[in-house]
Amino acid sequence: MKVDVLLGLQWGDEGKGKIVDVLTPKYDVIARFQGGPNAGHTLEFNNIKHVLHTIPSGIFRDNKINIIGNGVVIDPIVFKKEIESLKNIGVDISKNLFISKKAHMILPTHRILDAASEQKKGKSKIGSTLKGIGPTYKDKIGREGLRVGDLLYNFDEKYKTRIESHKLLLTDFFQYDYKQILNDCEKDWFEGIEVLKSFNIVDTEHMVNQLMLEKKSVLAEGAQGTLLDIDFGSYPFVTSSNTICAGACTGMGVAPNKIGEVFGIFKAYCTRVGMGPFPTELHDETGEELRRAGNEFGSTTGRPRRCGWLDLVALKYSVMLNGVTELIMMKADVLDQFETIKICVGYEIDGKTVEHFPFELNDDVKPVYVELPGWKTDLTDIRHQNEFPEEFNNYIDFIEKEMGIPVTIASVGPNRAQTIFLEKE
Ligand code: GDP
Ligand code: IMO
Ligand code: MG
Repeated sequence: MKVDVLLGLQWGDEGKGKIVDVLTPKYDVIARFQGGPNAGHTLEFNNIKHVLHTIPSGIFRDNKINIIGNGVVIDPIVFKKEIESLKNIGVDISKNLFISKKAHMILPTHRILDAASEQKKGKSKIGSTLKGIGPTYKDKIGREGLRVGDLLYNFDEKYKTRIESHKLLLTDFFQYDYKQILNDCEKDWFEGIEVLKSFNIVDTEHMVNQLMLEKKSVLAEGAQGTLLDIDFGSYPFVTSSNTICAGACTGMGVAPNKIGEVFGIFKAYCTRVGMGPFPTELHDETGEELRRAGNEFGSTTGRPRRCGWLDLVALKYSVMLNGVTELIMMKADVLDQFETIKICVGYEIDGKTVEHFPFELNDDVKPVYVELPGWKTDLTDIRHQNEFPEEFNNYIDFIEKEMGIPVTIASVGPNRAQTIFLEKE
């Protein structure tokens, strides 16, 4: 058996949580492979909305194995909160969730370092989610991180050493007043550790490979999006992990030849939270309209998302980097009321039109658009592709032709049921 991977092709928040939940019945195992509580994955069913940060989005389906892989960074405070809110609605995942010994932990000081670093950067800040992601991955790569498995061996000493060096950094380099904040959260952190320890902490790389040998099907759930990838995103305005498909191999311990389908998920337009370039961003009424219709406010931070038209230059780049085999288009309903819809098919740079994603994505990069007629139809109650208006079919066709791969799902609302599987003749 192979691992199918579902990942975001834009700047995150494409709707990964919803589609993982929809696809989960077809799989035995759902695994997160990178990122941490910077992610906010939203699911809606029975008129209830759930936002997950660390726990895989398959958790609401019965009898599935859920894995948090080694590439993920875990904040015990957030983890405990997630577990408690699931318990409150009667979802007990203690038997079904397996956590990698090799996943790194976000220490209380990592979060403070994130804030201190952003403050020091001032206007050139990244606009991070302030969840401690950058400092945690920095320690991982710098070979100074603490892993979940460390909880089982001589933990207190390792913790003290790390915290002391972070304190020095905060005082000497950042001149950041951390004492009160650390005081306030350290107790919660240690309570979180106790919750974490009560779960199955295992070598998930062995587990996943063994499950595949036993013919179990696995879906890997990406976090963030390709344009936030540490290597290929709009650096430095990126997150600190490999969000692309290759990250599923390193973040789970799965060999590249074990990757099966790659589901690339994108919104019918574009959004971005945080700072950094965004060629098709709209600063006008239309951008406002997208934000309003799409309710574009962050699931993790509540920040308003920046909005703009669909960017096929960026999308092609993402498809290439990930080896996407199937496209999933989200939030098509958000465009229901537009007379016409623009799609960016090239960038104009220094008077020349280019179709590749450039190294420097600055203000000189101007999108080149084609304009397609809108469908002016409420898509939200449609449940079969036969009912799609012609203009909507044309919109999908246009994207498929440009990308050279099929759109196999169109989502027309946040609910599980508002998901239409497209059949190709
Ligand atoms: P993720 O991080 O990729 O899982 O995406 P988020 O959960 O952060 O953001 C997607 C938002 O769009 C959530 O509020 C979803 O409930 C919502 N959503 C998902 N699919 C659709 C859709 O097809 N139409 C609309 N209107 N909303 C959607
Ligand atoms: P999901 O999984 C959207 C963005 C932040 C910031 C940059 C770096 O819900 O799609 P970080 O806290 O990772 O150091 O922030 O990345 N970012 C996201 N944007 N969705 C996310 O996750 C994101 N996770 C991080 O806004 O610009
Ligand atoms: Mg999100």
